[in-house]
Amino acid sequence: MLRVRNLSVEYPHTQLGPHLGRVLKDVSFDAKAGERIALLGANGAGKSTLFLSLLGILPIHGGSVEICGVKLEKSALAEVRARAGLVFQNPDDQLFMSTVWEDVLFGPLNYGRDKADGGTGLEDKAGLLLRSLGIGHLKDRMSHKLSGGEKRLAALAAILIMEPQVLLLDEPTAFLDPRGRRALTKILAALPQTMLIATHDTAFVETLSSRAIVLNQGSIRADGPADSVLRNEKLLEECGLAALEHI
Ligand SMILES: Nc1ncnc2c1ncn2[C@@H]1O[C@H](COP(=O)(O)OP(=O)(O)OP(=O)(O)O)[C@@H](O)[C@H]1O
Ligand SMILES: [Mg+2]
Repeated sequence: MLRVRNLSVEYPHTQLGPHLGRVLKDVSFDAKAGERIALLGANGAGKSTLFLSLLGILPIHGGSVEICGVKLEKSALAEVRARAGLVFQNPDDQLFMSTVWEDVLFGPLNYGRDKADGGTGLEDKAGLLLRSLGIGHLKDRMSHKLSGGEKRLAALAAILIMEPQVLLLDEPTAFLDPRGRRALTKILAALPQTMLIATHDTAFVETLSSRAIVLNQGSIRADGPADSVLRNEKLLEECGLAALEHI
């Protein structure tokens, strides 16, 4: 479903010289259909960079990525992005229309399957999705004037409605209150998609994921059953995650 081999990514740190800006180093992993994998790592470990590079939003400097059998390359960007959807760490990067409703319909009307049939049934689907996320009442509100948690849920709706086969979720529970978090956990647990979930929320990991990958300074430090990774205090401490158990 997702195949990543020896992925290297760097940011252009022009003053630093070659390779000093390398943020992902030799990252390799596979994700099977339906797997929900937690991506753990301290601030700056490279989680968001990984997501952006998987969709070709950031160029890759080495290695390869394959999503649902499609190899990531310039000519296949649209195909890759139809198969994998990213919910950005910052919802302001995702919401750009004037209302929540327009934001949620934007993808299907411009890129999705619904484009072909003029969106028949789309409004029902969008309404149902917003209600299931507990934000049905926000439909006509201005996206940029929502609270942090409301924006997060609206951004999630804008991706879920596209029904991507692979979901990349960058700190999905950030800004959510307990009710929003519960609604989100329930929704994600019922979805069949393959998911890669970057998070610092251990309870969320334990409920949703059976596997965890730990990134440390741009390299994979551990990849295994979520419960054993979360209980490996030495590993977590070495990767700057020691506080996880004690939040
Ligand atoms: N646009 C950029 N230009 C240069 N360096 C960047 C850029 N974005 C991120 N970086 C650097 O790349 C490294 C990895 O950042 P990234 O955002 O991927 O970390 P993260 O694991 O998502 O962290 P967080 O938990 O804080 O979200 C950091 O050192 C960061 O400073
Ligand atoms: Mg990040």
